[in-house]
Amino acid sequence: MSENKDQGIGGAQRPGEEGGAPGRVVGTPSPAAERRLLPEGDVSASEGAGEELDEQSAKRAERVVAAFFLLAFAASVAFIAYYIGWSGRNGGMHGIERARESNLWLGGTMTLAFLAMAIGVTIWVRRLMTSKPIVQERHELRADDATREAFTKTFLDGAQESGITKRPLLRRTLLLAAAPLGLAPLVLLRDLGPLPEKRLRHTWWGEAVRKAQAEGKKGVRLVVDGTNKPLKVSDFSTPGGMITVLPEGIEEHAENPLNEVAKAVTILINIPPDQLKPVKGREEWHVNGIVAYSKICTHVGCPAALYEQTTHHILCPCHQSTFDATEGAKVVFGPAARPLPQLPLAQDDEGYLVATGDFPEPIGPSFWERG
Ligand code: FES
Repeated sequence: MSENKDQGIGGAQRPGEEGGAPGRVVGTPSPAAERRLLPEGDVSASEGAGEELDEQSAKRAERVVAAFFLLAFAASVAFIAYYIGWSGRNGGMHGIERARESNLWLGGTMTLAFLAMAIGVTIWVRRLMTSKPIVQERHELRADDATREAFTKTFLDGAQESGITKRPLLRRTLLLAAAPLGLAPLVLLRDLGPLPEKRLRHTWWGEAVRKAQAEGKKGVRLVVDGTNKPLKVSDFSTPGGMITVLPEGIEEHAENPLNEVAKAVTILINIPPDQLKPVKGREEWHVNGIVAYSKICTHVGCPAALYEQTTHHILCPCHQSTFDATEGAKVVFGPAARPLPQLPLAQDDEGYLVATGDFPEPIGPSFWERG
């Protein structure tokens, strides 16, 4: 302590002292703080420091802390009130605008509540609590020499008795037995499944269309998922509808129907033709405003199964990717990096909806398009 008195805290010289460098060393208390430090070893002197607090400024601090706590209370009540009022309103949490609005208000009120609480507690601790030093006695972590010697002896005796040094055959076979165990976690990586390679580049739509066209048909008919009923344009003529469809015959003829159905699953949406803005080169891919897109989200592959008919947005419930059905299912919100692949449609001579080709790009998460 006497050394510190002579040289300043951290051994730094004070300004104005002979040969003095700029006074304060980074990481040391400011001169003001230093003045408040208790003399080393005089812990008892600090006891009862709280009594020394100026009662007037303590009262002021108390009122400030209480104000922050009241603010936290008000923000928490606002959070609950908004949540109950908002979720009860017409439309609930559906829609991007509503989701944005609710995120702003719920997030804002909760942040304010926690922030006000934290500021209140901080002021309470710094302004109203005593700051006496607390010393926790700890024994030295290093064991004494006798204990270390005893441990070394026990260890060496054990090694000697086990015969690990004397019996190289045992030692080597033990190491051999342990080595594959270290590699075992690597083997488990196989459970991540086989790489899809080029398998997601094509779906059963392509194969079914080729077969149908070889028989002189315009394309393969779309059947409703569940009933397997082929769909006429007149059956799906009301704008605003969305259904899930598959290529006709997939379950009977595909080699691995489960996998093929999972890849070929498609959503059919009826959009008023005057609101459709087809992507260049795909002007003929719809029938009276009926468009078809892969149902597999291009983010990480959840089914993009929600459709909002007023905005014509397709929503993926997993991470809220949103696609515009009027404009080639381009991404308008969320983490998906590319549009849902579109299926070219036409109408056959009997008025049924048919696909005239496969999806032009790989279906599923964007990562696999590089496969
Ligand atoms: S899987 Fe669709 S948004 Fe993530």
